[in-house]
Amino acid sequence: MAIQSPDRATAAPVTNDLAARAPEALRPLYHVDDALQPLYETIADCPNCILARTRSRTVPGSGPVTADLMFVGEAPGQREDELGLPFVGRSGQFLDELLAGIGLTRRDVYVTNVVKCRPPSNRDPEPAEITACGDYLEQQIAMIQPKVIATLGRFSMARWFPNAKISRIHGQTKRLGDDRYVIPMYHPAAALRNGSLREVMHADFAKITPLLRGEPLTSPTASPAPSEGAPNLNAPSAGAPTPPAPPTGSQSGSLL
Ligand code: URA
Repeated sequence: MAIQSPDRATAAPVTNDLAARAPEALRPLYHVDDALQPLYETIADCPNCILARTRSRTVPGSGPVTADLMFVGEAPGQREDELGLPFVGRSGQFLDELLAGIGLTRRDVYVTNVVKCRPPSNRDPEPAEITACGDYLEQQIAMIQPKVIATLGRFSMARWFPNAKISRIHGQTKRLGDDRYVIPMYHPAAALRNGSLREVMHADFAKITPLLRGEPLTSPTASPAPSEGAPNLNAPSAGAPTPPAPPTGSQSGSLL
C-alpha cells in the first residue's frame, strides 16, 4: 500500500482505468502527447503548495501540444478534481458551446488553469498557490507555442494584464511578440451566473478566429479602442515582449 506523508500527498495518477470510467465524450481528452507527459508527471507529484494536501488529482491540462489556441482558466473544481481534466463541469459545458460557435471542439484546443489543483470548497486561488504553479504554466506555453492565448476570468487575466478590470478589457487583444496574441475573456462561470454575459462571451469568442488566421486588424467585431485613462494593454508586462508599433491607419480597436 502506498504511504502518503500528510504534507505531500501524491495525486492519484490519471489512469486508463479512469478514462474508461469517464463519460465517453470525455475519453479523448485523456490522451497526453509524449512531449507533455514528463511535465504532467512532475505536476502529479507536486508538493509546492498546500493544495497538494487536499487534492484528489492534479489537473495539468488537456489538448494537443500542437494546438494554436490555448485557454487558461482559474483552478479545477470538484468535477475536475475527480476526473483529472480541466473544464468538465458546467463551466466546461458552456466552454464547449462557445467553441462550437466558432467551429472548434475541445480536441482542437489546449485548456489549462493557473492553478493545477482544486482549492478546497472552490475558493479563489491564493497568490502563493498561483506563484507555486507559475512555472508549470510557463512550461506549457513554451511547449505548445500557441498563436492565441485566451484567458478565462480575472486570475489568468492578471498574468498578462495586472490591475486591469475584466469588464473594461474583455475581448481586446494584446500582441505578445511577433506572432502571439492574448485575449482576455470572462470566465464561463460568470455567464452561468449572469445570463447577459453569454452573448458577450460569444461575441468575444468570435474575435478568436481572425486572430488564429493572423488577421487581427480587420475584424468588424473588434472592440473599440479603450477610452482615455483605460489601461494600455500594450504596456510591457512580465513575459510579454514590447510589441512592434502598429501599422498606421489601422481601423481596429484591437490593441496591437
Ligand atoms: N473553472 C476553472 O477555472 N477551471 C476549471 O478547470 C473548471 C472550472
